[in-house]
Amino acid sequence: MKVLGIETSCDECAAAVVENGRVLSNVVATQIPVHAPYQGVVPELASRTHTVWIYGVVKEALDRAGMTSADVEGVAATAFPGLLGSLLVGLHFAKAFAWARQLPFIAVDHLLAHLYAPRLAGANAETAAYPFLGLLVSGGHSVICRVENFDKVSVLGSTIDDAAGEAFDKIAKHYGMGYPGGPAIDALARGGNADTFQFPLPNLYKTGKNGRNHRYDVSYSGLKTAVVNQREQFRVKPRRADRVTETYGADTASKPYTDSKAEISESEKADIAASFQKTAIDILFRAVVRAAEDTGLSTIVAGGGVAANSCLRARAAGYPQLRFIFPPLEYCGDNGAMVAGIGEQYLLSGETSPFELSASPRIKSLKRVYP
Ligand code: KG4
Ligand code: ZN
Repeated sequence: MKVLGIETSCDECAAAVVENGRVLSNVVATQIPVHAPYQGVVPELASRTHTVWIYGVVKEALDRAGMTSADVEGVAATAFPGLLGSLLVGLHFAKAFAWARQLPFIAVDHLLAHLYAPRLAGANAETAAYPFLGLLVSGGHSVICRVENFDKVSVLGSTIDDAAGEAFDKIAKHYGMGYPGGPAIDALARGGNADTFQFPLPNLYKTGKNGRNHRYDVSYSGLKTAVVNQREQFRVKPRRADRVTETYGADTASKPYTDSKAEISESEKADIAASFQKTAIDILFRAVVRAAEDTGLSTIVAGGGVAANSCLRARAAGYPQLRFIFPPLEYCGDNGAMVAGIGEQYLLSGETSPFELSASPRIKSLKRVYP
């Protein structure tokens, strides 16, 4: 079944065609240049840009698949979660397309689509047998879940504050490391020393007073604060300059915090990036390895923009008892292929969505339910 998938939940305007799980075309028009001057996604600009780009992106996806609109047999679009104005553009374009051609239409959950990405043919499809552990790490979400099927997922843990990608983006913005922050820090960290700073890991794995079990949860706001506001307290070795003017003694934590962004050299930025990234990835591994041990699920499928991170991928090799599956880089970030792929699964199973259905900024499927 030739399914057109449309994804506009944030700042990527994307469309793809999938048939029998095979990607016939995958077009992603990124709005990074639109939002770069603001160092973050501006929702109003994102939705306006989608309205201008969506026709061209869908046309390009059909062209690259060697098809016309008459060849499409089903339409899928992301309906939630995401930026509401952005979601509405892709969702309503998809509904209009399906209605005009009287095609089956399915609204898709963005997070389930990310978890589906590695199953696209040619993307480790044969190795990711259900059930497995899902590690969904993006700009908006950090979720560890048990994945029973493409549409059946139970959440074991999630972030209690910032998402992993959000932490990368905020650190990069603060230090002027580049935009978007994830890929910028990933690249910068390659030239840095990850042992320069020893940033703290969150301590939330005991059952709290409210009875909530945070065993598989993660947290990034403490790390972000440490990197942005308390960097010197976590320096492992004093800088060369500090060793010469050792007026505060060996205890760097007792030094007044005087750093300004302007003073930071490029090599210092690289060290900050590398040290932050190491801790950010440590946080994920601690939770996901614990979940694997407890559930006995040894296959871990990663998805979302942060799944592109080279440190995350390298660290996975250090756990030979676990099998980590990463989607190819083109299916890590937001894309239409994952939407078309999971959409095809729904449509083949006979499930469709009513045209009355609208978009929602909220998570529908992957809600954390505390025991
Ligand atoms: O899945 P995605 O494209 O959009 C959301 O659903 O949020 O993920 C975007 C996030 C951003 O926070 C971006 O900085 C992060 O993924 N990201 C990365 C890398 N590439 C993208 N984070 C760390 N390392 C990367 N290489
Ligand atoms: Zn995403």
